[in-house]
Amino acid sequence: MSELKIAIQKSGRLSENSKKLLEECGIKFSNGSGVLKTKAVNFPVEILFLRDDDIPQYVEQQVADIGILGENMVFEKKKEVTILEKLGFAQCRLSLAIPREDQYDGPEYFNNKKVATSYPALLSEYFTANGIKAEIEEISGSVEIAPGIGLADAVCDIVSSGSTLMTNGLREVITILKSQAVIIGSNNLSAAKKKILNKLLFRIRAVKSARENKYILLNAPEHAVPEICKILPGMKSPTILPLAEKGWFSLHSVVREDEFWERIKQLRNAGAEGILVIPIEKMIL
Ligand code: PRP
Ligand code: ZN
Repeated sequence: MSELKIAIQKSGRLSENSKKLLEECGIKFSNGSGVLKTKAVNFPVEILFLRDDDIPQYVEQQVADIGILGENMVFEKKKEVTILEKLGFAQCRLSLAIPREDQYDGPEYFNNKKVATSYPALLSEYFTANGIKAEIEEISGSVEIAPGIGLADAVCDIVSSGSTLMTNGLREVITILKSQAVIIGSNNLSAAKKKILNKLLFRIRAVKSARENKYILLNAPEHAVPEICKILPGMKSPTILPLAEKGWFSLHSVVREDEFWERIKQLRNAGAEGILVIPIEKMIL
């Protein structure tokens, strides 16, 4: 029986969330420190723990069948792989940053400057597209320290919270691209592996939908029910159950996480009481 080999980041910004996603898909595996590959006990997958920078190449070469990593790496490495699904975590951006005290009047700042980065391909595309003549100094890590030690004038690196830039006395001036975690796949999967992949993608989509939505329960007097039904979007229409107290009902529905605060205000104005918002574990659409 063949297994689907999944590459995830060994340690870094994506590793915890990648493991958590697989676990929430019901995949059980042991992950002791120093373990570089492990087989899941209840699903036909093998998990490889690798440097995220190497994942596109390994998937292209079919050392791994699929990989979880940032779009930033996928776009930089330009390997023959396919993005199968966006995962909605590890949001970040690739940005140019300069010493905080430097005056900045626009992208021309970078003319004749030396810029340190681990993203030479994306940066050189950006400079070419914008007619900027700058020197690119490729380094593989601790990029933000480069101006401070006299290695470069500026940097181009991943910014998430912005705290690394701040501690190194740098300020972000241009965003080159926005990124989030994605699943990439080899373009040459066998039929057996595709079958496993489809099962996995089905589970991932269920986990993603669940994360994006909340289950909402509330009580309302009978006269308020029609108005509240209009406010509650729900997967279909809300479930309405009578309460023991005459003339009162309990309404259940699903709302998107990103709009539920706004809805809750509307619901209260319409007469809803005792509103409960509950996380959803899996959601099959
Ligand atoms: C990036 C970048 C910074 C950090 C920024 O590393 O190089 O070190 O994240 O995050 P912050 O804005 O929240 O401080 P990343 O994990 O992408 O790179 P790596 O895989 O090379 O460690
Ligand atoms: Zn990395």
